[in-house]
Amino acid sequence: MIHIKDNVFHLKTATTSYVLKINEFKKLEQCYYGLLIEDSDLRALGIPWIMEVGSNVHYSKDIKPSSMDLMLLECPEPQMGDYRHIPLNIWVNGLQLSDLKFVSHQLTTVDDYSLPRAREPHQTLSITLEDEILKVLVHLNYLIYEDSDVIERFITVENLNPQPCVIKKCSVNFDFMNDNYDLYSLHGAWIKETHLQKQPIAIGQHVISSTTGASSNRSNPGFVVGKETDWFGFNLMYSGNHKSTIEQTSFKQLRISSGINDEMFEWILPSMDKFSSPSVMMSYANNLDTLTHQMHHFVNHHVIPPFFKQNPRPVVFNNWESTFFDFDEKRLLKLAKKANEVGCELFVVDDGWFKERDNDLSGLGNYEVNKKKFPKGLTPFIQQVKKMGMDFGLWVEPEMVNLESDLYRQHPQYALTSQRDMRFGRNQLVLDLTQEAVRNYIIKQLNHLLDTYDISYIKWDMNRHISDQGHQGHQQSFSHRYILGLYEILEKVFSHRQVLLESCSSGGNRFDLGMLYYSPQIWASDNTDPIERLKIQEGLNLLYPLSTISCHVSGALSQQTLRRTPLSTRYNVACFGVLGYELDLEELSSIELKEIKDQIKWYKKYRMLYQYGTFYRLSNGWQVSHDHQHMIGVYQSLGKAGSPPEKLKIKGLNPKNHFEFKAKGQRVMLNDMRELLHHVAPIKLHSQGLILKTASQYLSFKDQRQQLEASGQLLAQGIWLHSRYLGTGYHKDLRMGLDFNSSQYYLQQKEKAQ
Ligand code: GLA
Repeated sequence: MIHIKDNVFHLKTATTSYVLKINEFKKLEQCYYGLLIEDSDLRALGIPWIMEVGSNVHYSKDIKPSSMDLMLLECPEPQMGDYRHIPLNIWVNGLQLSDLKFVSHQLTTVDDYSLPRAREPHQTLSITLEDEILKVLVHLNYLIYEDSDVIERFITVENLNPQPCVIKKCSVNFDFMNDNYDLYSLHGAWIKETHLQKQPIAIGQHVISSTTGASSNRSNPGFVVGKETDWFGFNLMYSGNHKSTIEQTSFKQLRISSGINDEMFEWILPSMDKFSSPSVMMSYANNLDTLTHQMHHFVNHHVIPPFFKQNPRPVVFNNWESTFFDFDEKRLLKLAKKANEVGCELFVVDDGWFKERDNDLSGLGNYEVNKKKFPKGLTPFIQQVKKMGMDFGLWVEPEMVNLESDLYRQHPQYALTSQRDMRFGRNQLVLDLTQEAVRNYIIKQLNHLLDTYDISYIKWDMNRHISDQGHQGHQQSFSHRYILGLYEILEKVFSHRQVLLESCSSGGNRFDLGMLYYSPQIWASDNTDPIERLKIQEGLNLLYPLSTISCHVSGALSQQTLRRTPLSTRYNVACFGVLGYELDLEELSSIELKEIKDQIKWYKKYRMLYQYGTFYRLSNGWQVSHDHQHMIGVYQSLGKAGSPPEKLKIKGLNPKNHFEFKAKGQRVMLNDMRELLHHVAPIKLHSQGLILKTASQYLSFKDQRQQLEASGQLLAQGIWLHSRYLGTGYHKDLRMGLDFNSSQYYLQQKEKAQ
């Protein structure tokens, strides 16, 4: 996988090559990243700059051209004539680290776990560069994941100088040439996370960053660059303030650096000590679907905790959107009974279960059970849930404290406040995870919870941005120390347990590889409106596999948008991920409960497909494929008069194989048809009358049942779907064209054609 000859490093994955060369100035140049090439091709690589460019600075007065500004460099350095942005900014005694020269390389194993790193690399290379004057070493580490076609990179700075070293920036760099590529990045805010933004890359710098203390809902640390047959994916494994700069010059050189945001960062590295950057994952493919599959494979096989690899995730019921804080044991037991009847496998008690927590003004920091809600404690409640046959899960928000809490009353110094004042977000303060005492307190409380109760799942929330961080004595290193503190807690509490950890931060405010290293799934957004979720999940799907995206079916009227959507669509979107339910089951009619029961039964049958299947974006929907089975969701927003016929083109099929194509059964609720009902009823009935109201509790229409057989070839070319409602009456084979309607299709491979 790593081939080294004549000063050239050829890093190979199953389908890609990454080539670096030590040049005559002992600088490391990037020569190639693309589909796998032969070693014999290596001599033909590199850009032949024959002459120098006017006004450039020459690195060597004897050898020309030697401008660093023209080279594609692996580890660019300041002050040497490279005028693009520089990913390293390190100082010793007022002198800036520069003129790094190659000294050695090693095929090593990684021994740096100061931050989350991907698991089980196939091979590892470390290249050492040195600033001879400052006596500082820079180790460039490469970890090869051959099966996923991903290369992980991080930098270690080793200070051999007797003086401390000041690290102001330490990002991983990638130089290549722009071929009119577009940048695909994920941005948003609360309840509109990870919307995909596509823009052409032009001359200048584009920055993707966060300063909120978390990887943030504003800009996800992962992004993609490419077009047509050239795609490059990048993702930083880090949960705090991050920054990626995408810079193009007028010569079309493209420099991409990614790391901890230097805006609020400084690290004092003592003599003889080391500092390591977070890892950046990079992957190349010649089409976007393949790039997505590679990144997904990597997360499923090398990032999430090993116990959860390919492990089926339970269908949860979460009480939040049905009760908010207003519940007690009795109310929850009623919900649990219904949740169990429809087939949920794990019952989660969300926010509000602990002392002083009846709204979001008080209680955070307490871990004692709320006696008003659970007079006999949690154990008898958990026992009843278990007796029904479900597992039990609990919500916690360990990084936060309310003024009204035992913790704040006893240890006000644990909270992050400024000398100037206190700044609240959702009425709460952030705990200072840089203090050992704070970390130990949280570890102790969580261990106690997990040791005392029969808990299979924890939802770990974090509901505000961080502020007031500059005064605790760590100044510019606070944000990074906070994240190191968070990782330490997660490691100590969860790494030896098989508790399913679902991370959450006001929805998807911290959806990143760093959190996925500990929590195999993340709550994607507090927005459970399926039409909004289409955008959110479509963005996440670019880089994160379905097994990591937690999605719930909520009530008909969305609490976030006031949009009303069919139950079938809420399922058809939420099932492309880890499915759960979060609505008041007691409010539902028998027919709606029946529909949910059928949905869950169907989901369980095809769970591996939905959670671990290979994901494809189609022009009108989504597809997952796994082991000769395929599931396709087709979505519409607004019903239109006289909709034209719609074609469905399916991806990834062997053209020679034959398939059975079948619509998943789903119901159209009588309620959704309202006053149209009396037209289709066999006798004259009033739409608001008792008979139809009662009937709508128990009866429904069938949505279309399209079924056909076709070859992979035809399915790839496209088949016509049954027409939508045309305004001329109901027919059982129409796709009912209600607003926000959707259909789901199942494709099963038949025996191979002769
Ligand atoms: C956050 C989460 C929600 C819910 C509430 C509870 O907003 O994202 O899912 O847990 O907190 O307070």
